Amino acid sequence: MTAATLTVTVSRKWSEAQDICGFEFASLDGSPLPRFSAGSHVDVHIPGGLIRQYSLCNNPDDSSRYQIAVLRDPNGRGGSRAIHDTVREGDIIQISEPKNHFPLAHEAHHHLLLAGGIGITPILCMAERLTSIGDKFSLHYCSRTPPRTAFKTRINEGRFNERVAFHYDDGDQIQKFDLEGTLASAAAGTHLYVCGPRGFMDAVLECARRLKWDESRLHYEFFGGTVEKSAGDKTFKIRLASSGITLDVSPDCTVVEALAANGIEVPTSCEQGVCGTCVTRVIEGEPDHRDSYLTEEEKAAGDQFLPCCSRARTPLLVLDL
Ligand code: FES
Repeated sequence: MTAATLTVTVSRKWSEAQDICGFEFASLDGSPLPRFSAGSHVDVHIPGGLIRQYSLCNNPDDSSRYQIAVLRDPNGRGGSRAIHDTVREGDIIQISEPKNHFPLAHEAHHHLLLAGGIGITPILCMAERLTSIGDKFSLHYCSRTPPRTAFKTRINEGRFNERVAFHYDDGDQIQKFDLEGTLASAAAGTHLYVCGPRGFMDAVLECARRLKWDESRLHYEFFGGTVEKSAGDKTFKIRLASSGITLDVSPDCTVVEALAANGIEVPTSCEQGVCGTCVTRVIEGEPDHRDSYLTEEEKAAGDQFLPCCSRARTPLLVLDL
């Protein structure tokens, strides 16, 4: 389901760290914004037509504003460059209401928060919330260098600073993050939350699975992922259950594109398999999941897929469209 759109003002823009800008949004009339839970993100409609997802990083107890932080990625698809260069304080822009695909598991006995680089944004929001409700947590924050570390001052001067360990790529060996040791020594009932660059997340999740962490205790969110293409991609068919219309999806085309070419619109946002906007029920056939959104259990169930990026393992998929 697509979240409602909000019109907000950019009440503040600041330089948070090297190549990282912070943005704060407020309502036009000063009224509270819709409440959000830790781990939520908003879709930001960037001038020029791009829509990108950014995690909220302020304390969820404060609904007078939303804060995000954006790393400028010179090799990205253009969203981060556009928001850095074109969005200014005082601008009026559209964002979605907050959506949460990365919630806290309140049944956890302990929360282990792992952030890589700009992945600190949802993790910081979680740390604020866990502090407010008195839950136990520890946070490991890995980044390249101190000048590239967003929210260092906020964390050091904040109310949970003694629960945070900083780890820098350019620092001494002694302060480097011991991933395996940390995961191996976690108390029973600990839930793990990880957000950061793809390689960081892959390393954390691979280690956790190798150490036999149950999938239900692993929580993660990929943003800015890349859609996997495979040289072996073949043409397959999709059938719309409501009308019986059958279409071909060729190797150079996504299901969303094949549908759009025939006048059938599926709501999309990231078009990279990370936001979940396009999730569609599969009635028959086996999807070939290429997304970073569905959990391993949801992928195995095979009754839904993300048609902006995923394909088919069977010659035909019947979709609930
Ligand atoms: Fe974001 Fe498909 S549009 S997952």
